[in-house]
Amino acid sequence: MGIYLGINIDHIATIRQVRGTNYPSLVEAALLCEKSGADSITLHLREDRRHIQDADVEILRGKLTTKMNLEMAATDEMIAIASKIKPQDCCLVPEKREELTTEGGLNVISQISKMRDICIQLNMSNIIVSLFIDAQKDQIDAAKQCGAAVVELHTGHYANATNEAAQLTELERIKIMATYARSIGLQVNAGHGLTLENTTNIAKLPEIVELNIGHSIISRAVFVGLGPAIQEMKNLMIDARQ
Ligand code: PXP
Repeated sequence: MGIYLGINIDHIATIRQVRGTNYPSLVEAALLCEKSGADSITLHLREDRRHIQDADVEILRGKLTTKMNLEMAATDEMIAIASKIKPQDCCLVPEKREELTTEGGLNVISQISKMRDICIQLNMSNIIVSLFIDAQKDQIDAAKQCGAAVVELHTGHYANATNEAAQLTELERIKIMATYARSIGLQVNAGHGLTLENTTNIAKLPEIVELNIGHSIISRAVFVGLGPAIQEMKNLMIDARQ
């Protein structure tokens, strides 16, 4: 089975926001991502609007030719925005104002009934809901109970492991949990902290349908350009599957 690459374009917006300019254009960037092999475009509308803005979501929804995957916190404000814009996919993530990036997976276990209501609400707008969780059996079971169709397994602990043994332990955990999630009927995506150095082993896992990658690709684009940076990652993922 194939593997899909979702490009997270948040940090293209970061470059724009730090200077308050109207460039770089997110639409131009997203269309180039699609042309270069992105299978979907991911953007995280954060509560503090530090990178992606409301208007970006609205404008991009009408321009993307692949799919929009809107990452957002499980708040009333975000549910209202998603219900209006109707991205194809929504990935619910935990959010803390002061964090540099999403630090951990959602605690679905502690909020099953709230998450179930949100899944129902988003599904009514034909949005496929994914829950960003750590690779833990109890969180996967809770995601299933909420009626989410997809889980995105958090690869940050794997990516940030400080030695090879720790990284292998994390990889094994993701592997076992990807198999488990698939066995109970969930689509399994993964993402966070993935780079050219660490993606092959994740892309090899046959249950994983989609990887969402942002920071390393946008960083690599500084040296090789956005199109080639995407193609490099896509080729690496395809090679990993062969
Ligand atoms: N998936 C989720 C749910 C995320 O929150 C992020 C970061 O916004 C990513 C994937 C992409 O992570 P990175 O930018 O480290 O590739």
